[in-house]
Amino acid sequence: MEILATMKQEFAKQFGGEAERSYFSPGRVNLIGEHTDYNGGHVFPCAISLGTYAVVADRKDMTTRIYSMNLADKGIIEFPMTGLSYDTAKDWANYPMGVVDVFEKAGHKATHGFDILIYGTLPAGAGLSSSASLEVLTSVILNEAFGFGLDMIEMVKLSQKAENQFVGVNCGIMDQFAVGMGKKDCAILLDCNTLSYRYSKIALEDASIVITNTNKPHSLASSAYNVRRAQCEHALNELKEVKPELKALGELGNDEFNQIAGHIEEVLERHRARHAVYENNRTLDAVKALENNDVTEFGRLMNESHFSLRDDYEVTGKELDTLAEIAWQQEGVIGSRMTGAGFGGSTVSLVKNDAIEAFKKNVGEAYTEKIGYAPSFVVASISDGTHRIEG
Ligand code: GLA
Repeated sequence: MEILATMKQEFAKQFGGEAERSYFSPGRVNLIGEHTDYNGGHVFPCAISLGTYAVVADRKDMTTRIYSMNLADKGIIEFPMTGLSYDTAKDWANYPMGVVDVFEKAGHKATHGFDILIYGTLPAGAGLSSSASLEVLTSVILNEAFGFGLDMIEMVKLSQKAENQFVGVNCGIMDQFAVGMGKKDCAILLDCNTLSYRYSKIALEDASIVITNTNKPHSLASSAYNVRRAQCEHALNELKEVKPELKALGELGNDEFNQIAGHIEEVLERHRARHAVYENNRTLDAVKALENNDVTEFGRLMNESHFSLRDDYEVTGKELDTLAEIAWQQEGVIGSRMTGAGFGGSTVSLVKNDAIEAFKKNVGEAYTEKIGYAPSFVVASISDGTHRIEG
């Protein structure tokens, strides 16, 4: 593989010596089910063939040296394999450090460090889970090197914990799950309340998944994300007053929600909760439609998901709305919506194969005219989750 050959050369240059093992960890795109994971609802993401590669060699001491070819200006970052805490100066290395730390706290202690060279093919800030990709990658490297015997779901949970407790981003489980548990040509229907899941084959005969990156410069998504979480939790607590057995918004049907929604005092919070409930039920309907080969209905529900994220959840913004609105007007577009946390990042669209070139051109031009800079496009293929690769 050409990428690996280049990485191995660079490894020798940066660290001296030879890399011993290679890994790939995908990014993810969520097809539908947004801001439902931390509300105990369903999500329907898939792992994509863009992601994070690593070439690795063991070291004899307890130091890890890590270098990213994408962030060459940061140079080699070093950290010990025990007693870690978040350190701003270590920049992006806090993600792997976080994983080492949660592993240690869970009793999975490293006995030596590594030299690791990273190369990522995910565009930064595109909302395609480059951080989850790096976290699960680190988990797999540790698990293999030390024979901890953890299964992928345990590693997914530890990776999420690293993000929550070490990095301090209060994300749900979707990203790490999609990255770790991804399966070629399949999306994953995951119930985030129970972690039960199943794969659903994505066999689009004449259409593809097109990811369009807004290229919006970094937005303050994480504080707004935490506010949405808090609003939903507050709404849930008010609903519990009339329905004490309720554990998550994801347990409610739309009608049932509407009957009790009046108990949520703040209108804004009622809207947030309505999105969480409707989006969860919409996700189940969408998967049913897709499995009945009704791609048109799946696309319509994708569009509805965007409306709800725009109007009730208010996590879209001008760039994502512009991309979606232009996409809806294009011939050959089955459905289009924002994907991931929102505020910036990307949209996901289902586009007929023979319309993709025109889609890129028309959406590119109209977006640039309105926003002032160009979006970028990736036609995604669906990949397996994090794994070791030969070569
Ligand atoms: C981010 C989070 C996920 C999920 C999405 C929204 O990607 O990391 O856990 O909440 O936003 O669906």
